[in-house]
Amino acid sequence: METLFITLCGEDDATFEKAGKILRDGGLVAFPTETVYGLGGNALDPEAAVKIFAAKGRPGDNPLIVHVSKPEDAEAFAVTNDMYYILAEHFMPGPLTVVLPKKDNIPMSVTGGLDTVAVRCPAHPAARRLIEAAGVPVAAPSANLSGAPSPTTAAHVYDDMKGRVEMIIDGGECEIGVESTVIKPDSDGCTVLRPGEITPRELAGVVDSVYIAEAVVDPSAAGDAPQSPGMKYKHYAPTSRLMLIDGDDEAFAEYVNSTKERCAVLSYTENIGDFVRAFVMDAGSKNDPAEQMHKLFRLLRDSDEARADVIYAHLPPKSDEYLALYNRIIRAAGCTVIHLDK
Ligand code: TXA
Ligand code: MG
Repeated sequence: METLFITLCGEDDATFEKAGKILRDGGLVAFPTETVYGLGGNALDPEAAVKIFAAKGRPGDNPLIVHVSKPEDAEAFAVTNDMYYILAEHFMPGPLTVVLPKKDNIPMSVTGGLDTVAVRCPAHPAARRLIEAAGVPVAAPSANLSGAPSPTTAAHVYDDMKGRVEMIIDGGECEIGVESTVIKPDSDGCTVLRPGEITPRELAGVVDSVYIAEAVVDPSAAGDAPQSPGMKYKHYAPTSRLMLIDGDDEAFAEYVNSTKERCAVLSYTENIGDFVRAFVMDAGSKNDPAEQMHKLFRLLRDSDEARADVIYAHLPPKSDEYLALYNRIIRAAGCTVIHLDK
């Protein structure tokens, strides 16, 4: 299949018209969101979902998120509740996904056989225009090959999806850089199934109780039938082995400088000068989790170009605003952590 690659230029009516038609006709369009690039198909078309899973090489039991341009559009395919609208008022459009009971018109191939559906209303103007042009809800996982880091630029999407999708819309680099916060409301609050830019503390400002699923920080807790199937799969992994270091900055530099391996380092901006022979990448300022999140997936892709035997990175804290970073990087590293004496 030939993949159309179109960069947005400000006069894009024809692009969105064409993209909307591709989606209505059962094809796939990759598009930017504020989190990562998505791989969109018509959420009401079971065949489109099958094509999405095939293009990604994704296991069929890992469900897709359904995107809408207005929170109330979820009524057409999900059973909403008061908490959904409270959350929508505070966080939509934006990087929040809410799991709700599904209605019959959402195919089981979209929800991976579950009786719930994940709903998200993205903030990125191009995503919103695409959904409106399609005139149907848009099922969209991240637009990477299954297991690879999520794409934060259209070039990353092209690397993974050329020849597999009808169109890629290039809207520049994604602002946030990690995927949306996924939550499931329950009777007295909600459970965070996947952390993102919207933190548990922010959610707690709006709903009574916020729980964090155990598998968020401990992938081995996911088991065979996790609350969110995505929890059980290896994710975000670069080709080289990623190892996390738990230790202070000085011990980290000493460890990396003394290793004989050909290595790459994801260093805090402040410490870049500390490494003598590694391929050093700037992972963002030490106390800036937003910058570190923004850069993470790009760096995991770039680090492959260093052809290193091993990539070292700091083990982030598990605290509120670092939780999404911790969740992604611990999976990318397959939970390999080296604890240095402090
Ligand atoms: O930011 C994002 O959410 C991006 C952009 C494109 O919107 N999308 C994204 O989709 O990250 P994906 O498919 O890569 O991740 C969806 C996550 C998976 O962890 C999946 O298990 C979970 O959402 N999920 C989807 N439907 C679910 C459901 N019904 N119940 C529980 N978890 C669900
Ligand atoms: Mg994904």
